[in-house]
Amino acid sequence: MSTYALRPFQWSDVAGIAAIYAHYVAHSTATFDTEFGGEAAMGEKFAHLKSLGHPIVIAEGPDGQVLGYSYASFYRPRAGWRFACEDSVYVAPEAVGQGIGKAMLIDVIYQAGALGFRQMIGVITGESAASISLHEKLGFAHAGRLSAVGYKFERWLDVVYMQRTLAPAT
Ligand SMILES: CC(C)(COP(=O)(O)OP(=O)(O)OC[C@H]1O[C@@H](n2cnc3c(N)ncnc32)[C@H](O)[C@@H]1OP(=O)(O)O)[C@@H](O)C(=O)NCCC(=O)NCCS
Repeated sequence: MSTYALRPFQWSDVAGIAAIYAHYVAHSTATFDTEFGGEAAMGEKFAHLKSLGHPIVIAEGPDGQVLGYSYASFYRPRAGWRFACEDSVYVAPEAVGQGIGKAMLIDVIYQAGALGFRQMIGVITGESAASISLHEKLGFAHAGRLSAVGYKFERWLDVVYMQRTLAPAT
């Protein structure tokens, strides 16, 4: 079992985050990226998230290594969408199945609600059973499925939409 602590993002996490994401780009359909964009692009992405003040949660292992990361940011850039966010959660392959993804996403849900987001949306590859189950456990409802909208590893992929209310719409 990995021991870990949750904490906010810091710049030194970029290499660890990039290593985790590169793994899933190369070996899974969890992301529709087919090529890893590089550590610098990852740094830019997280700089943007940080500049927005949106939640980024890091799971840090006993040696300071990044075991996972999760964040939430605008679902869409247009202003009318500003109360809806999309979550993202990735756990290092050697650390999956130990509660880390769940712990990080619970923290991100809490922080996103506190920031004023009203709805959180998960956009999940249809074959990602672990992610779908994780979102179900944390109160996300199924909100639709798009058939064969992605193509990776020589096959067509569905996308499942899941949605969780963070605060009642008023
Ligand atoms: C999906 C992911 C974030 C889950 O994180 P994790 O730390 O492995 O999962 P946890 O140990 O916190 O498990 C939380 C819940 O997820 C579900 N789950 C986890 N692994 C699962 C598996 N292999 N099969 C089915 N459900 C699974 C279970 O419902 C579990 O709840 P339980 O512990 O009460 O049984 C992680 O497996 C991962 O990074 N996968 C690859 C990337 C990915 O798919 N990211 C999501 C993109 S939307």
